[in-house]
Amino acid sequence: MKALVLAGGMGTRLRPLTHSMPKQLVPLANKPVLCHALEDIARAGVTDVGIIVGDWHKEIEEAVGDGGRFGLRITYLPQEAPFGLAHCVLVAREFLADDDFLMYLGDNVFADGVHALADAFRRDRPAAQVAVTAVDSPQEYGVAVTAPDGRVLGLQEKPREPRSDLAVTGAYFFTPEIHDAIARIRPSTRGEWEITDAIQALIDRGGEVRAVRLSDWWKDTGRVEDILDCNQLLLDHVTTSVRGSVDAASTVLGPVVVEPGARIIRSHLRGPLIIGAGCVIEDSYVGPYSAVGANCALTDAGISHSIMLQDATVTDVNGIHRSVIGRSARVGAPVNGTGRHRLVVGDHTELEVVA
Ligand code: DAU
Repeated sequence: MKALVLAGGMGTRLRPLTHSMPKQLVPLANKPVLCHALEDIARAGVTDVGIIVGDWHKEIEEAVGDGGRFGLRITYLPQEAPFGLAHCVLVAREFLADDDFLMYLGDNVFADGVHALADAFRRDRPAAQVAVTAVDSPQEYGVAVTAPDGRVLGLQEKPREPRSDLAVTGAYFFTPEIHDAIARIRPSTRGEWEITDAIQALIDRGGEVRAVRLSDWWKDTGRVEDILDCNQLLLDHVTTSVRGSVDAASTVLGPVVVEPGARIIRSHLRGPLIIGAGCVIEDSYVGPYSAVGANCALTDAGISHSIMLQDATVTDVNGIHRSVIGRSARVGAPVNGTGRHRLVVGDHTELEVVA
């Protein structure tokens, strides 16, 4: 079995971060979303992986390389524009040849991984297998209507009136039958070649499509709130490892990772959290569910439930909560103490300022 990872697309819902990076490289617990996916694929026993890339091809290839460090062999497959999930399969047609494959959305994270899903597919080998889970807002997802025995009876893509609350998550398993089904569909009203329509086409011709329910959480990291939630869920699995330095005037509580070269000075760390390599945390508080990227600096600052990307700094500002601070961003109090706010705010940025 091969894997096809989708890492193209625009990521508009994650602006401003996605003005300067693809959404699949946004770090969760200090590791790009896409790298969590690749590690998961390797654990499922798949080694031959195609990655669909769009305009961020170069950045993704720089971050992932040839896949050797994940134990994978990676082929990059450029898609000229985000024409839809089924279009990605068309782009990958030659790479996939006549093999079965796992299609993994590069912005999805599965708590349990896809290992058991892959085993179920290898065992039963239906024409296609989707992974589903009950959600509160099915209209935001692909939705599956299933029979009690797990057979999928029908699918809808982001329906206004969902016929079930079972969302189709980003781990699909296909036999080569999917290629004929894709050849029979047309672009949807939103102009995309929908994989949901292709799976429906399989069902319409009598193909067996099975749904496996996830037993633990799953996240589509399409929005900032999802990223923060997913970061939190991943940090719940952190175990303490302090390889940087923590001085005697600092306190550490709960599971904490301090990467090599990081220095904690007169500060309070309350895990679960991660402090990246080379950070300097001075006279500051880093609270639960914080992921601080490499070479960040916090001085007289306080942060919790947040993500800082590499090289960002926070000085003299406390109470930062459920925030995402981009690469090399600088957050600070006014130097001259006028009580006014001086802001240099990038496109599509969101700020909440206490008046
Ligand atoms: O996350 C699960 C949902 O993913 C499913 O429930 C939906 O049925 C499915 O259509 C998809 O919906 P999204 O709107 O979340 O898809 P998104 O546009 O975010 O694309 C998913 C991944 O695929 C993302 O990593 C970007 C990539 N992609 C997307 C398109 C449309 C490509 O590489 N090329 C594309 O043409």
